[in-house]
Amino acid sequence: MDSHPSGAAVAPAGLPATGTAPGAHRGRGFAERLGATERSDAWWFKPAIQALGLIVLIGYANWAAFLGAGHYHYEENGRHYLSPFYSPYLHPAWLPAWLSPALLVLVFPLGFRATCYYYRKAYYRSFFGDPFACAVGEARSKGYCGEARFPFVIQNLHRYFLYAALVFLVILWKDVFRAFWISGHLGVAGGSLAILFSTGTLTLYTFSCHSLRHLIGGKLDCFSCAAAGAPRRNAWAVVSLLNEHHMAWAWWSLLAVCLADAYVRLCSMGALHDPTLLTFASLFDVPEKLWGP
Ligand code: FES
Repeated sequence: MDSHPSGAAVAPAGLPATGTAPGAHRGRGFAERLGATERSDAWWFKPAIQALGLIVLIGYANWAAFLGAGHYHYEENGRHYLSPFYSPYLHPAWLPAWLSPALLVLVFPLGFRATCYYYRKAYYRSFFGDPFACAVGEARSKGYCGEARFPFVIQNLHRYFLYAALVFLVILWKDVFRAFWISGHLGVAGGSLAILFSTGTLTLYTFSCHSLRHLIGGKLDCFSCAAAGAPRRNAWAVVSLLNEHHMAWAWWSLLAVCLADAYVRLCSMGALHDPTLLTFASLFDVPEKLWGP
């Protein structure tokens, strides 16, 4: 590592000058062998449960996206359900038959999740052991330079994936409204709720994003001095409130997307009967039906 004449560490050439060279300050775990610690609590539990959750849910998502193209939607009995993994549904003529159309759109939501600040923490800890937890020996002992070099520099694309995610939300809310349109009427069925749950939690996940919070107000020192300061202050306060629970929204939304896909898939396969809970003859009418086929 280079050093300044004053004795302070400086970044190697080509890396950002943050005042502290990447890797200059490391915790206790840096000097320990992998997994070694004096902690006596169950520090391993959280990384283990995170790893299990990610393997199961991301494993399901991959299976649905790569191999589940046969049952991505349910368009019978007056329903219009589309799996969130396949929305927006794009199937150009040039797409080979063996390639799932989900892969054309999933790059954006996957990129959004993979570069999310919370998920980074989760998979760095659970899969890279970097570190597993505070004051626990790390897997990587040298060569760490933050997220300033390939491949981790790609994490800095997160804000661009956020812009794509905001566009996707508009499309997913359109799918929600279609799911509440049953046999030509406004209605509520099991699938409507599954798709609403998926898009609702995805919206909370997206609107609690750290990058969005920064975009709205995080870079301002003075709201009252900025253009549209009052509405930005209010929007920032709402996003900050959601941001406190970003980890929870990250997990709920991942689970809800998988559940919505599974629901649509089971209906499409004929393995699940989708119950109608309510139907309305028009928007402001009393319900015509309470729980029926
Ligand atoms: Fe998690 Fe942006 S930080 S979605």
